[in-house]
Amino acid sequence: MALKEFNDLADFSAAQVQAMLALAARLQQRPEPQALAGKVLALLFLSPSLRTLSSFQAAMMRLGGGSFVISPDMSIHGLETRSGIVMDGVAAEHLREAIPVISSYGDALGIRAFANRVRLEDDLADTEYRAMRELVRIPLINMESAIQHPCQSLADWKTMDELGVPKNGGKFVLSWAWHPKALPLAVPSSTLHMAAMRGMDVTVVRPDGFALPQPIMDKARKAAETSGGTVRETSDRKEALEGAHVIYAKEWSSTRHYGDRVADARLREDLQDWRVDDPWFATARPDCRFMHCLPVRRGVAVTDRVLDGPRSVVIHEAQNRMWGQMAVLYQMLGPGA
Ligand code: CP
Repeated sequence: MALKEFNDLADFSAAQVQAMLALAARLQQRPEPQALAGKVLALLFLSPSLRTLSSFQAAMMRLGGGSFVISPDMSIHGLETRSGIVMDGVAAEHLREAIPVISSYGDALGIRAFANRVRLEDDLADTEYRAMRELVRIPLINMESAIQHPCQSLADWKTMDELGVPKNGGKFVLSWAWHPKALPLAVPSSTLHMAAMRGMDVTVVRPDGFALPQPIMDKARKAAETSGGTVRETSDRKEALEGAHVIYAKEWSSTRHYGDRVADARLREDLQDWRVDDPWFATARPDCRFMHCLPVRRGVAVTDRVLDGPRSVVIHEAQNRMWGQMAVLYQMLGPGA
């Protein structure tokens, strides 16, 4: 059956994810340059991107289809996203019209809209993305919302498979990393779920005040129960890193002060030693990998010597964005869909 929505890896079984990755590997090894001939992917970017933007366009081209991009930075009428307001300001077009119009030109739609980071409850419920989803009548891909980044997780799963990182028994450490600003929870929440669903022993290590929200931890623990993995959280970095197969770094907002940028900034100002560096790997496995979704600030979240060193697989992850998304598009729009 054709895939109608790609929003959350939790909507799929591990076997279905593995089938998607097998399709990605097949398309990588045996190209099908006409599979999506005549198909159009509409891409709505309400937030910035390098990888997602270019990898979706490249994916469509490699499959024989086409794509177009709409973003507020382009020469379009200002886009209003709030509901129920009188539009007497700068924006001349509302998403309620823009989304159906864009959708009517495409066979599938991708939407990127980062978290507002005002109310944690709204971001955990993915309120803004869900409201936009109601306006879409064609297959839809979440290209990163307030709380989901399924395309990144698919690529990261593929990367670990290719590197031979064990599923059951593999130790995955998701570590908070320093950044001058509060960043969204989409990547840490999706990454945690992906690693738990893959059957790994997952440790989330973060400073006090940056614990991942309980619903995200509970959802991952449920996935681990099915996969045979485990999920735990700690602020003891030394203990967390022992025996790690993977250290996955990500910067995210304080959850204690969610939406309060001043309090968040105060909490993080003394945490600059949460910069991944060679000593972090001292007690990890000798073949421990460094992962990050990118973009990353050099010398801030991670040192040059780690990022440029043999442990780093960040470019491999980024390249797998394209192969993974080709499989998603093929299942949505390809032969037999
Ligand atoms: N990892 C990721 O989604 O990168 P972009 O923000 O550049 O798309």
